[in-house]
Amino acid sequence: MNFKFGLPLNFNKWLDDNSHLLKPPVGNQQIWQNSDYMVTVVGGPNKRTDFHDDPVEEFFYQFKGEAHVLVWDRGQYEKVHLREGDIWLMAPHVIHSPQRPNPGSLCLVIEHKRPKEKHDALQWSCACCGTLIKRYEMSLQSIVKDLPPVYEQFYATTTEERTCPNCQTVHPGREYVEWHKTLYENFKHLE
Ligand SMILES: [Fe+2]
Repeated sequence: MNFKFGLPLNFNKWLDDNSHLLKPPVGNQQIWQNSDYMVTVVGGPNKRTDFHDDPVEEFFYQFKGEAHVLVWDRGQYEKVHLREGDIWLMAPHVIHSPQRPNPGSLCLVIEHKRPKEKHDALQWSCACCGTLIKRYEMSLQSIVKDLPPVYEQFYATTTEERTCPNCQTVHPGREYVEWHKTLYENFKHLE
């Protein structure tokens, strides 16, 4: 028999073989290529300021260590804990930002290939008041190829473009430490 994705593989052996990719600077690795299910393992540490609007469901299995997901909904933030052993199925269009502060944490993430007409988006919002600063929509066919140019586009914006139209705070771009510090100062319920 010819199996497109090969025979079953031992997950622990796969993790051992790919351990160098599951930490910075890469931090994630897709198990099978050219598949309809994009099965990825994501490792910590990794912190980010972008939020992802996914048109399809995302499945999380936090099988080692802890992580959390910040969720943005019309100017409000919520925090969803992913404790070791937790599984979570997230509905489409939950605008989310996975945070993996702990070195060595590992999460299995499964998402489906996008139908051509359904678009993803990346967006950034104000850490002081929650107002949307920038949103970029894209047809996402490859996580590896299609996302980095969008990050670069946001990081290349001017201070004026990153100024919150509501409270005039400047979004610090890629400076995630500063953005998170401001977030936790202003949204105490996230602690
Ligand atoms: Fe603001």
